[in-house]
Amino acid sequence: MTRIVNSMTAFQLNMKTLYDIEKQLERALPYMVDAATDVDLKNSFQSILEETRMHSIRLEQIFEMIDMTPSKHISAGIRGIIEDTSDIIINEPSGPIKDVLLAGAARSLEHFEMVNYMTAIDEADNLGLDGVVDLLQDTLDEEEYADQKFAIVMNEDLKKIEDLDF
Ligand SMILES: [Fe+2]
Repeated sequence: MTRIVNSMTAFQLNMKTLYDIEKQLERALPYMVDAATDVDLKNSFQSILEETRMHSIRLEQIFEMIDMTPSKHISAGIRGIIEDTSDIIINEPSGPIKDVLLAGAARSLEHFEMVNYMTAIDEADNLGLDGVVDLLQDTLDEEEYADQKFAIVMNEDLKKIEDLDF
């Protein structure tokens, strides 16, 4: 019994952290949309912003399923990656090099999200919360797909830089 209570407490904390991660990203992504020059990258950031809003809604559904009021636990990790991204937005001139850096930053953000969702899925699975696992897995699948999309766009923008060099 104690073990279950501790596992649930750990899971609840991670739900709050994930909720903060998604909410911080909702605030940060519009700046990334504005900063991108490449239309594909700009559109990718825009669609990720819409997906991120859906991820927050899914977490709110999970909070309801486990009888919790949605609340946030500050993620210093995502804040740090967002600060790195802001540095690119503020200090790099617009163009393909900035786009490559922004796509790389987006991949850092996605990977941070992915590993946090993976942990939450393992915890929910351990607690026997099958419906919760399914919702978390839906989001993880979208995060992984987004990461692959950013990798493709980044490589296209890298080609543009190579073309500039020759
Ligand atoms: Fe997300």
